[in-house]
Amino acid sequence: MGILSRFFTGTGPQSRDGTAPLSVANLHQEIAKLTEANEKYRARLAERIESNTSLKEVIEAQKAEMNAVRINSRKNMTLDRIDTFFTGTKLRLPEEAYQRFIAKCEDKATPDKIIAFKSEMEKTQHRAFYEQLFTTEMDMAQGFDFTGLRPIVTFQRGETDIAYAAKQGMTLDELKANHIRITIERFDEIIKKEFIDPKRVTAVCEIGAAWGAATRYMQNRYKPDTFHVYEIDTGWAQWLKDNLGVDSKQCDGESLSETESESMDICVASSCLYFMPFVKQWNYLTEFARVLKPGGIAVFNVNLIENTSVRTLKGLLANYFPRRSFGYIPQHCVDTSFPEDQFEKLVKDPTKGFGYQVYRKL
Ligand SMILES: C[S@@+](CC[C@H](N)C(=O)[O-])C[C@H]1O[C@@H](n2cnc3c(N)ncnc32)[C@H](O)[C@@H]1O
Repeated sequence: MGILSRFFTGTGPQSRDGTAPLSVANLHQEIAKLTEANEKYRARLAERIESNTSLKEVIEAQKAEMNAVRINSRKNMTLDRIDTFFTGTKLRLPEEAYQRFIAKCEDKATPDKIIAFKSEMEKTQHRAFYEQLFTTEMDMAQGFDFTGLRPIVTFQRGETDIAYAAKQGMTLDELKANHIRITIERFDEIIKKEFIDPKRVTAVCEIGAAWGAATRYMQNRYKPDTFHVYEIDTGWAQWLKDNLGVDSKQCDGESLSETESESMDICVASSCLYFMPFVKQWNYLTEFARVLKPGGIAVFNVNLIENTSVRTLKGLLANYFPRRSFGYIPQHCVDTSFPEDQFEKLVKDPTKGFGYQVYRKL
């Protein structure tokens, strides 16, 4: 029944349960009760607000803590990657470039600053330089663990593969059977018999040998006595030494600093040059030219700029997220490492096929 109809029918206000009509005194009592209940409710509300605020504070504090842990572990992961450069086969700084750098510092800064700088660098084992020198390689060696949903940040992929093979009860030959088979097929096709007489091959030098597909090929086909390997992955460098008996050299990532000029019959770089920056590729090729004996050959594959279609570029963007450091190189630059008057270009159209090229020293 509405208020108006109650007014006209003369029924006065009723108690809250609607049973008895209310007097003014009753009404006062009712109001007092309501006011009290209201106050209690307000107090409870205030309590809740307060506990919500402190809950919020706790959540915020936890969020900040978690963030700090995340940032810290990211930092540790980065340091981990760099740490791998300091274990096993020791890397070295490219000597000439480093000395030129120091000379420039000595030219500009005061002697006390130079002393402090050098001591800091020694204390950190030149970490700041290594970080910059190997950024591209570290980037290219990264992968993503789709099961654990986290980046595989450690640079030492060799260690990971070696441990995985052991866990599966496999040999590395079994684990890398596909790579080994492909390498045999390609090298059989590319390195023609007339390129070099197997009997003259006593020394081979290889960069980026990893699990040694090309290494084994060279060992089986040419049986060299000397085998220099420059491999920055310390896990692989040690494995190659222990299992394939090669001479793993200290690696600065860009030169063959421990190999004498004109001492090698074959230089090899199989599927490795494009993992490093352009300028290092060029230098390794120039080093191949230096260490080859007359009549010796350089065998390598590169990603050529001339060969790069829009489709390839799109493919790189789509399939190699987040890696963006592909080492492309112009054919012109390869040719400058092997000047026409000193080298014979044995693969006439290297833009075709798998990008393998062969040059012979005159
Ligand atoms: C795909 S693997 C090579 C495969 C192997 N050559 C084969 O025959 O199947 C590439 C290797 O290049 C090495 N590498 C990358 N940058 C390098 C650099 N600047 N100097 C020497 N080795 C490098 C990596 O550590 C990696 O082991």
